[in-house]
Amino acid sequence: MDSIEIKGGTKLEGEVLISGAKNAALPIMAGALLAPGRSIIRRVPRLRDIFTMLQIFRHLGVRAKFVDEDTLEINASTITDCSAPYELVRKMRASILVLGALMGRMGRALVSLPGGCVIGPRPIDLHLKGLKGLKAQVEMEHGYIKASAPELIGGEIYLGGRFGSSVGATMNLLLAAVKARGTTTIVGAACEPEVIDLARFLNRMGAHVSGAGSPRITIEGSNELHPAEYTIIPDRIEAGTYLIATAISGGAIILRNVRADHLDAVIETLREIGLKITKEEGSITARSGGPLSPVDITTLPYPGFPTDLQAQMMALLCTVPGISVIVEKVYPERFMHLPELNRLGAEISLEGATAVVRGGCRLSGAPVMASDLRASAALVLAGLVAKGKTTVRRVYHLDRGYERMVEKLTALGARIKRIKEDA
Ligand code: UD1
Repeated sequence: MDSIEIKGGTKLEGEVLISGAKNAALPIMAGALLAPGRSIIRRVPRLRDIFTMLQIFRHLGVRAKFVDEDTLEINASTITDCSAPYELVRKMRASILVLGALMGRMGRALVSLPGGCVIGPRPIDLHLKGLKGLKAQVEMEHGYIKASAPELIGGEIYLGGRFGSSVGATMNLLLAAVKARGTTTIVGAACEPEVIDLARFLNRMGAHVSGAGSPRITIEGSNELHPAEYTIIPDRIEAGTYLIATAISGGAIILRNVRADHLDAVIETLREIGLKITKEEGSITARSGGPLSPVDITTLPYPGFPTDLQAQMMALLCTVPGISVIVEKVYPERFMHLPELNRLGAEISLEGATAVVRGGCRLSGAPVMASDLRASAALVLAGLVAKGKTTVRRVYHLDRGYERMVEKLTALGARIKRIKEDA
């Protein structure tokens, strides 16, 4: 199992090219299943999660491959199987997105229940509510979701949940509803940029989706979908991670291929902390320098502060003098990184879903264990500033969501390397 070794203390300088968004690429790949023929998806990051989706496609009998560095060709002319088995779904929860797409295309699907997750409970009740709202029959059998419908029928479906809107449930319903008879209205829809990107791709396929990006999405069902070409939006979580990296390590960097308008809450928070940020068309410049101030953060669905940057922000706040408070409202148990940051010398305490960070301490390098994708990134960021050597174990989590992170940080001047280890 590989690990990453970081020697802390160098400032970051230079430019970094942000990859296409994993969380937009995955649902758009599922969308390509809706019509027979060849879709071309550009700016697809080469990440483990994308390759897991390709394995599921192979299982479905769909031909898909990278035709150059970041262009994916998906040929969904034939689908020979309508199931997603546990061995694949357990590797990546987003596999559940094939549920809506298979229902839209084939009218039936058998998808394994995703199972537990290290960031806390992740129910799928809203996904199922969406499909049932389209008059599909949905049953649980032997750990699988078995769904079928002779015909999907549109309706008004409320998708708000205990923790706000659900990105995945909104996408699954969109994927099925574009093929349903009549009009579907999703009330309480997730407003994330990745939902908009999926809607734009579906419209490029001939679908009629309006209102994406607002809590009310309207879909006029159609049987006339065709393959399409599309370019994925930049990854706002990767971009946010590099901005936080600049704040934590010092220096100045320019982000290229980035959408600043997708990062409003993050940019605002980092400015409050003391990072100087300027936005231009397609790029962001971040400069550290002056004094840093503590902040209070609450993670929320978009356009609030993203839960996927909570761990990285916590690493930064450990180094900012004063007391910062982080409230996690999306995944109240998402704090696996906390004890690992404390091993590096941080002082963070937890009360329910609220973390109190006593910042300003000097982190010191140590071996730490990555528990999930974003927690791994937080530990790498902490390693950039910690005195001495930090070794982050189980970095395969990082490969799920950060394209060439070691190479990108090395190009910015970090002393970081990947160590191949036997299991
Ligand atoms: C997506 C992102 C993930 C991000 C999350 C929240 C992808 C592939 N993943 O995950 O990186 O952290 O959005 O921004 O895009 N919930 C229910 N019932 C459901 C579904 C969700 O109660 O049926 C709850 C979840 O437990 C959570 C909240 O709703 O508390 C938001 O989850 P959701 O938006 O669905 O996350 P994902 O789509 O799985």
